[in-house]
Amino acid sequence: MHSQRSHTINSLKGHLQESEFESYNAAASGNAAKNAAFLSRGVMPQGMIMNALYDEIGEGYAVGRRTDPAIATQLNKYLRNAESILNIGAGTGSYEPEKSNLVALEPSTEMIRQRAEGSHPVKQGFAESLPFPNNSFSHAMTVLSLHHWTDRSAAYAEIKRVVTERVVFLTWDPCSAPYWLTEEYFPQVYEIDCSIFPSIEEIKSEFPNLKTKVSQIKFEFGL
Ligand SMILES: C[S@@+](CC[C@H](N)C(=O)[O-])C[C@H]1O[C@@H](n2cnc3c(N)ncnc32)[C@H](O)[C@@H]1O
Repeated sequence: MHSQRSHTINSLKGHLQESEFESYNAAASGNAAKNAAFLSRGVMPQGMIMNALYDEIGEGYAVGRRTDPAIATQLNKYLRNAESILNIGAGTGSYEPEKSNLVALEPSTEMIRQRAEGSHPVKQGFAESLPFPNNSFSHAMTVLSLHHWTDRSAAYAEIKRVVTERVVFLTWDPCSAPYWLTEEYFPQVYEIDCSIFPSIEEIKSEFPNLKTKVSQIKFEFGL
């Protein structure tokens, strides 16, 4: 199908624990100044330098990438009524449910800089070393970020440490077939993606209660 691309929305339930969510409400109405304050307080993972890839390739990201309402509707179903949400690899803030108690986690200064006025508060850091205490969030979400994580085992362990109830992954299944664009025009993109995206089995092995939903995402070209 020329106008469709499949993604996988994976939701999973982890172990239920009492949440010790540290309140970020003071900054929940966040703005650029507040985000800058969070940034300056951001905890650097030990031994990691904040030379995030998206500092180099993320310029202008917020202009080209926005929330797609059809994808957001599907994603948000799994986050409804969440007490608190951590958005890992949050980028410029796409897909963050507006009326939610959400904290964004993002390594790239450039991506953080492009977050809109009034967006959720952001903390600078990496999935591999989440700068939050145990059981800080009831829910976590991550949208097309997993394939950038350099140590996914460490990141999975960190997610289990800080999230008590549910994690929603929106990712691409490397076992899915190419479509016209990646088959006929950019086969290298397909090959690279196949080599860097984690398999669904990998995620399942870490989160045995994983439930997988395969979605066809419509997109249109237009000026
Ligand atoms: C394709 S962008 C997606 C951004 C956003 N989630 C969205 O849907 O627009 C991938 C994001 O993952 C972030 N990222 C890369 N490595 C990361 C890591 N180790 N931990 C957390 N986020 C990471 C990048 O900085 C970038 O913002």
